[in-house]
Amino acid sequence: MAIRQLPPNLINRIAAGEVVERPASVVKELVENAIDAGATRIDVTATGGGLGLIRVADDGAGMGPDDLDLAVERHATSKLADDDLSHILTLGFRGEALPSIGAVARLAITSRAKGAREAYQIAVDAGRKSPLKPAARSAGTEVEVRDLFYATPARLKFMKSERAEAAAIADHLKRLALAHPEIAFSLSNGERTTLRLEACPPGLLDHALARMGRILGSDFVEDALPVQAARGDMDVEGFAGLPTLHRPNGMQAYLVVNGRPVRDKLIAGTVRAAYGDLVPRGRYPMLALFLTVPPDEVDVNVHPAKTELRFRDPNAVRSLLIGALREALGAAGHRATASLSQDALARMVQPSAMPIPPPGARAYQSHTRPRSFGLAERAQAPFEAVSEPSADMRGRATDDEAAAGYPLGAARAQVQDTFIIAQTEDALVIVDQHAAHERLVYERLKGALSNGGVSRQMLLIPEVVELDGDAAAALLAASEELERLGLVIEAFGPQAIVVREVPALLGICDVKGLLSDLAGTLLEAEEDGEGSRLLAERLDHVLSTMACHGSVRAGRRLSPEEMNALLRDMEKTPFSGQCNHGRPTYIELKLTDIEKLFQRR
Ligand SMILES: Nc1ncnc2c1ncn2[C@@H]1O[C@H](COP(=O)(O)OP(=O)(O)OP(=O)(O)O)[C@@H](O)[C@H]1O
Ligand SMILES: [Mg+2]
Repeated sequence: MAIRQLPPNLINRIAAGEVVERPASVVKELVENAIDAGATRIDVTATGGGLGLIRVADDGAGMGPDDLDLAVERHATSKLADDDLSHILTLGFRGEALPSIGAVARLAITSRAKGAREAYQIAVDAGRKSPLKPAARSAGTEVEVRDLFYATPARLKFMKSERAEAAAIADHLKRLALAHPEIAFSLSNGERTTLRLEACPPGLLDHALARMGRILGSDFVEDALPVQAARGDMDVEGFAGLPTLHRPNGMQAYLVVNGRPVRDKLIAGTVRAAYGDLVPRGRYPMLALFLTVPPDEVDVNVHPAKTELRFRDPNAVRSLLIGALREALGAAGHRATASLSQDALARMVQPSAMPIPPPGARAYQSHTRPRSFGLAERAQAPFEAVSEPSADMRGRATDDEAAAGYPLGAARAQVQDTFIIAQTEDALVIVDQHAAHERLVYERLKGALSNGGVSRQMLLIPEVVELDGDAAAALLAASEELERLGLVIEAFGPQAIVVREVPALLGICDVKGLLSDLAGTLLEAEEDGEGSRLLAERLDHVLSTMACHGSVRAGRRLSPEEMNALLRDMEKTPFSGQCNHGRPTYIELKLTDIEKLFQRR
């Protein structure tokens, strides 16, 4: 077959295959154009999942008749003033979106340039351009796309359900809206407005959080930690969710680079590393991070849809982000997700059988706000395993510790040998003693390790542990590393190991359980092919396994002194709001909420 030059129409349709993958990509391209045009408000309508009509109206710069005529031509753009691809400040630059859309749908653009008196319209139907005609419209541009993919029925077959396409449109629009809090956005499905976002005043950290909550959910607003850092000529700001606020996928991690929402592997990997051991495996943190870098530091011309990028100096970006996130998370200290206590309250059922006395009935008259919860004072019938704090401790707790305003309050009781109940000035705190202690031991192990080594404790009688499969071999292969962590082991025949010393921090621990869990952690890392490249991450897992074994297990009775010591330690320890598995270590129930439960408010 002879080679032939393809006709422009076919070229456009081929290009459309890359740029316009689905209705949401049309919305993305048109909204990006509106943002580039300096719009302050952008209204989007999409019916039938975007396969019926997509309309994007903006109040931006608009186009005069000549520009309008050129805009739908291939490779025509106003965004590359010189031929330099290394200083791109706009979202678009390829001059491909409008001709691609025009090649596969019925496209009509109505526009009036700022300061001009007339508006004009141009239409392209499956690649056939109609002549320009006068139209009526205020300043700005309105683009309508009807019957998307009618010119390419093969593509139409790949569309998902109307609902799925509508959801993808909303997702794309939210990403762009999050990246541009200075612009007002709305989305309608033709029948009703499904999203309406007002513009925020400048100052991301001061003004944009509430609007971000409309996109990421109100949990995020409550649990968002401000992030701000700069390094050389790069800076990052935004909000990072507390580690206890995690989601099953990375969809809620919003990353914006120079105003462009991106899904970048480098950034995603860096975020994962920064949260590291704070979020359970397979779960993802929520965040909205805005990275600003000099335009020549980043290449956006990597993918036709421009959702991927390449950084000139990936390491600089990585360390900026890790530093910023670690600082934000560290500053959060022992804070855990506020929504957890709301969930807990929501789950508490009121005993419906109990008649509610009329207002003024004697039992409810005594005082509006109890001085204490009285858990310790009260008869303990409902709690079988409450260990009563000593009278001495009770007095001290009420007068000193609660009053001294410790964030986690004074321990008042232990229930089921598992939970510590503490009281602060305005709340009841429930601590999971095992989870909390585990985090403390883990952070101490990490601290000791970075300060030159974990101190060891010699076992009076070395313990011989039998292990099966490759477990013994895996442990022995890591024996040098383990020794630095305070665990001294030696081979003892083919399937056994003798343990001579253990990390002193662990106290009396179940050596056999520890070894078999450690072997599991090591073998799993091998399977993942993580090898030595991710030694740091593997170390975290090893330490976390150790901490789990050295912890006050659920089921151990604690003295009041031990309980209070644990609370004070938690307050001092970074990241103590969650255990190494990402579960919360405590929840706080506000007194006002408890009063509501009992209808005192
Ligand atoms: N809403 C709009 N308001 C004003 N001008 C617009 C608008 N939409 C498009 N234009 C003009 O039309 C040109 C072509 O738009 P098109 O989206 O096809 O290409 P681009 O944005 O330059 O690059 P890309 O293909 O990367 O999006 C733009 O460069 C811009 O000058
Ligand atoms: Mg464009």
